[in-house]
Amino acid sequence: MFKITVYNVREVETPLFEKLNKDNYELTLVAERMTLDNVDRADGADAILITAFDDCDEEVIEKLAGYGVKYIYTRVVGINNINVKAARNLGIQVANVPNYSPRAVAELSLSLGLTLFRNVSQATANTHAGDFRLLPTYYANEIHSATVGIIGAGKIGMTEAKLYKALGAKVLAFKRKPDPNNDVVEFTDMDTLLHKSDIVSLHIPYIPGQTGNLIGDAELDKMKDDAILVNTARGQVVDNQAVADAIRSNKIGGYGTDVILDEDAIIGKQFDSLDDLPSPINIELMKNYPNVLVTPHMGFFTEPAVEDMIRISFENFANTLEKGTPLYPINE
Ligand code: COI
Repeated sequence: MFKITVYNVREVETPLFEKLNKDNYELTLVAERMTLDNVDRADGADAILITAFDDCDEEVIEKLAGYGVKYIYTRVVGINNINVKAARNLGIQVANVPNYSPRAVAELSLSLGLTLFRNVSQATANTHAGDFRLLPTYYANEIHSATVGIIGAGKIGMTEAKLYKALGAKVLAFKRKPDPNNDVVEFTDMDTLLHKSDIVSLHIPYIPGQTGNLIGDAELDKMKDDAILVNTARGQVVDNQAVADAIRSNKIGGYGTDVILDEDAIIGKQFDSLDDLPSPINIELMKNYPNVLVTPHMGFFTEPAVEDMIRISFENFANTLEKGTPLYPINE
C-alpha cells in the first residue's frame, strides 16, 4: 500500500483526510510541522505531504531520501520552503496545489483592504477605548469611486480583481504576461499602478533573488499618501522596515497583511505580549496598529480551500501512480 506521512495536520483536516482518501493510501497524520527533529516520522513512507510551514531544506531532504521517500508534495501553492533542486538531485519528485479555492485568499485580501480603506480598525480601536468622537481621519472615499491595483494577476489576483470590480471599483493590474482578452482589469506598468491606486494588493510568489523586497522605499514613495497596501502573498515580497517607516511617517495610509517575516518562529504560537515576539521588525511593524493589521497566515483557512487542498493533493498522488507524474509537478 502507498504510504504517505502528512505533516502539519490541523484538527479540521483530520476528518477530511479520512473522507477524501478514496484510494486508501496508508496515511500517517502528524500534527506538528515537519522539522529535522521529526522528519523520521517519514521513515518507510513513499511520500510526504506538507504545507508552507514545514522545513524542507537540503538536510531534511537528504534524510527523506535516506528513508526511501520518493515524493515531496505540498498541499499549498507556495514552494519557497522546499529546496526543489536538492530534491531533484536526489530523484525526488515535487508537486504542489496551485489552485485551491482562490476565493479564500482573495476574500481575506478584500476584507483587509476594505477595513483599512474605511478606517474601521482605527475607529474600533478608539471606541473600545471609550472615544466615540467622529474624527476627521475617518472621512473616507467610497469603493466605487476608488482605484484598486493588483500586483500579480494570477488566479487569486484576478479573483480579488473581480470582487472589487463587482463593488464598482476601477481595477488596474500588473502582470509579466498580461492577458489582453479580459474585461475585468486594465493592465498597466507598475509605476502607473502605484501612482493611481487607492488600494494596492499583492499576489506575487516569493522567489528568492527575484521578488524579495519588491515593494520597498521607492515603490512606497510612488503610492498615494493615503493608499492602503495589502499583502496576502509572502512577507518577503515587501521591505517590512520600509513599510513600518512609511506608515509611521504617514507616507501611506495602512498596511494589511496575512504574511510576515520569520513566520517559522511565530505562526502557530501564542506569546504573552507583542514584545515577546522573536522578531524586532514585526514588533515595530505592529506598533503601528491600528493602521497595520496582521492576521496569522489564515488566508487559506476556509472550508472549501482546505477541502480542495487535500482533494487535489490526493489527485496529484493518483495521477503519479497511474501516469508517473503528478497533476501539478514542480520543475525547477
Ligand atoms: C499557500 O498556499 O502558499 C499559502 O500561503 C497557504 C499555506 C501557508 C497554508
